[in-house]
Amino acid sequence: MNELKDFPMLKKSIIYFDNAATTLKPKIVIDKVKEYYEEYSANSHRGDYDIGFRVDDEIDNTRVLVQEFINAKRKEEIIFTKNTTESLNEIVFGFFNNYLKEDDEVILSSSEHASNILPWMILSINKKIKIVFVDSVNERLHIDDLLKKITNKTKVISLAQITNVSGDKRDIKLITKIAHSKNVLVVCDAAQSAPHIKIDVEDLDVDFLAFSSHKMLGPTGVGILYGKYHLLKKMVPIMYGGGMNENYNEKELKLLSIPYRFEAGTQDLASIIGFSEAIKYLNSYGFKNIERKEKYLRKYLVQELKKIPYVKIYNEHNEGSIVIINIDGVLSGDLGLYLNSKNICTRSGKHCAKMGDNKDDTLRISLYFYNTYEEIDYLISVLKDKKSLLNFIN
Ligand SMILES: Cc1ncc(COP(=O)(O)O)c(C=O)c1O
Repeated sequence: MNELKDFPMLKKSIIYFDNAATTLKPKIVIDKVKEYYEEYSANSHRGDYDIGFRVDDEIDNTRVLVQEFINAKRKEEIIFTKNTTESLNEIVFGFFNNYLKEDDEVILSSSEHASNILPWMILSINKKIKIVFVDSVNERLHIDDLLKKITNKTKVISLAQITNVSGDKRDIKLITKIAHSKNVLVVCDAAQSAPHIKIDVEDLDVDFLAFSSHKMLGPTGVGILYGKYHLLKKMVPIMYGGGMNENYNEKELKLLSIPYRFEAGTQDLASIIGFSEAIKYLNSYGFKNIERKEKYLRKYLVQELKKIPYVKIYNEHNEGSIVIINIDGVLSGDLGLYLNSKNICTRSGKHCAKMGDNKDDTLRISLYFYNTYEEIDYLISVLKDKKSLLNFIN
């Protein structure tokens, strides 16, 4: 594999360090999307003609690839949504809205992404349930605090496997084991983990899992919702319309089987089809290689950042490929714009997680396997040039 050849964006004269927001796409993914539009641009489920059958086959093929990718027991457990946010909303409002009763408790961490907090907040108002937040200390989940907070009212724990602000990697397998021993269900937000580590839902034993194609080399517009089949049978759709009903009249509505009942309307067919190539690319690159490469890149980045006395690193010891920093006396937004002026893409602010233990805005550098040591060297040289930085912000 040759990243420079595989990713057209890597040929541009920019350095892309905003991979936690979305990743670059390899050419084979772009070509697959193009293939759909140029060769079999039809709707799914609806045509009695060859190019329509081809679309159905391609969509089914992606579903099976995703099933194998996360080691789900059956392909019906894979539901296509728009993104992680929609998957989490479907889980909260389609399943837990009926499952939870007044006074039940949901455990979240304060470092969750807004998409794993706000749906629960709305549900808690509508259903009079209680959200219990677990603290993070030094950018890591406080596991003892989590264990202490599980009571006989706790019905679900919903956590990111890796957080998007500080790259805190949680032991979801252990948490799920403990949760299940107390009859507590587990929802896993895998938006930041599925791109970087091997996900095995059978091994993790989580009840629901959500992630996005665009954060793992795939096109935008596709999310995955995984749920254990017996739980999906109890989930109701949050969207109604074409493509999800078998029949209806004034008195009754008969839904299609799982997963189709949860996929109302025309989906982003081109992107679902393109996602298949992203999965194949990740499979052939191999998660062992991805993890190894990212580990050394991160280590190098931290080591070089530590040599700059005025750089504060917030999450030196976390495992994800995210490093958050600040420079004394410089707003993180200004720092981001300064780096942009040097063709480096990063992100500043609170990164959609506004309740974490770190209340500062930070500059986030998020890596992926196609980043290089040379790119890090360039970033470091730009950060070391304090005169240029001060000139830019003044
Ligand atoms: C941990 C986490 N959860 C959820 C999301 C939401 O993903 P999307 O915008 O694809 O719905 C993100 C996006 O950054 C994320 O990092």
